Amino acid sequence: MTLPKMALTDSATATADAVIIGFTRQGDGIALAEGAQDVAAAYDGDLLAALDAVGASGKAEEVVKLPAPKGLAAKVIVAVGLGDADAVTPEQVRRSSGAATRTLSGTKRALNTLGAIDLQAAAEGSALGAYVFTDYKSDKGDAPLGRVDVLSPADGAAKDHRATLKAATLIAEAVATARDFINTPPNDLYPASFADRAAALGRAAGLDVEVLDEKALKKAGFGGILGVGGGSARPPRLVRLSYRGPKARAKVALVGKGITFDTGGISIKPAAKMDEMTSDMSGAAAVVASVVLAAKLKYPLEVTATVPMAENMPGGGAYRPGDVLSMYGGKTVEVLNTDAEGRLILADAIVRASEDEPDYLIETSTLTGAQVVALGSRTAGVMGSDDFRDRVAELARAAGEGGWAMPLPEELRGDLDSRLADLANVTGHRWGGMLVAGHFLKEFVPDGLDWAHIDVAGPAFNGGSPWGYTSKGGTGVPVRTIAAVLADIAEAG
Ligand code: BES
Ligand code: MN
Ligand code: ZN
Repeated sequence: MTLPKMALTDSATATADAVIIGFTRQGDGIALAEGAQDVAAAYDGDLLAALDAVGASGKAEEVVKLPAPKGLAAKVIVAVGLGDADAVTPEQVRRSSGAATRTLSGTKRALNTLGAIDLQAAAEGSALGAYVFTDYKSDKGDAPLGRVDVLSPADGAAKDHRATLKAATLIAEAVATARDFINTPPNDLYPASFADRAAALGRAAGLDVEVLDEKALKKAGFGGILGVGGGSARPPRLVRLSYRGPKARAKVALVGKGITFDTGGISIKPAAKMDEMTSDMSGAAAVVASVVLAAKLKYPLEVTATVPMAENMPGGGAYRPGDVLSMYGGKTVEVLNTDAEGRLILADAIVRASEDEPDYLIETSTLTGAQVVALGSRTAGVMGSDDFRDRVAELARAAGEGGWAMPLPEELRGDLDSRLADLANVTGHRWGGMLVAGHFLKEFVPDGLDWAHIDVAGPAFNGGSPWGYTSKGGTGVPVRTIAAVLADIAEAG
């Protein structure tokens, strides 16, 4: 993890190597955003005219660099577009901060004046925009950005600004933690090593840690996790990390899919893009990072992450199409396709998590290609009990991660009926694949429990170019959504 040191400043013209200012599109022209005025005043000449002269339009995330004048401590002004002046959202501040900060590797110290618009968004955007993962590069390139001073808003108390910056820094750290897990290649991140790293992180944050190895899983009857993990030389794990907050208002169970690599198993995947299945543990990465974050932010909640970890491989011990697995809790599942493995390890984990009698259950997973077909690569599909599902989807959008409520149509459920067992793991058709997976999970959720399933198959991994504060590779979605839901539950119950 290489995040810059984050600090506050009260002056847009304080010492820094680069100063980030915002500008917007207004009518036919451009306008300076909040926070940019003092930099413009120090500029010898007309800053807006200079931006106009180089063709700057103010469109969202456009980045234009200008040499800074003598009077300013900074050597360079990094002007970043915020889009239309009357529609600047917190997420736009986050993305623009990220886009500007991404251009500053090799720089020691940056000052982000977008904090004057939205301190939390500017801080998160800059911290995450500075994220790089070079653990496996011999030549590390430019040194990552060392420090960001974020300009405080004009109003509000200094104490509140400090608390906001602290929270933003911890949230960005949690996202970066998830990204690091995802970006670590599957030859180094496999169930046992993932479990070790998650346990170490949990212990360092003062969490209760439990790790079940393959022997313990067998003894307790985790047939889903053992079935899926059987084809790998590297046996599965179940990790549980628990945070018990002060004056807990509610008990929240988190569950995340930890397939450290998904070949498809005997129902093997085609070669194209199979490498991206290194990210099939993104849900696990997100819930591990989130429970640690809950502890660091001292939410008045009890939060337990239950994280099944397995590698889906076609080895000699692999489960087969046709097998019937006896799941944790006693249900039986007929396996018709070994590539629908996530739901099998998640079913075991959901049943285990539910034994704690939580008030809410949030499960997240890179579960279906159908999610990407339906909603694209940046909008998660959210299923579950009606009210909580809608609440999670709305908070996902407010957090800027994108989420949309999806139904579990009654008529699809019967298509999971099995000739042999209680349930099959796939249907005989390809319709509504994301929703079918939701139905499968629902079979393992106790009646009456408020629950949400967040399918992040598309959003968890950026196979394209960097954008906003999103680097290539693991994105850390939905850590900020989970953080927002936990904060909302801590506040409203
Ligand atoms: N890990 C995949 C889903 C996935 C696909 C994640 C693309 C990220 C990007 C999952 O295990 C899977 O293989 N799902 C199958 C289910 C099918 C066999 C019912 C799928 O979506 O094709
Ligand atoms: Mn699969
Ligand atoms: Zn998978």
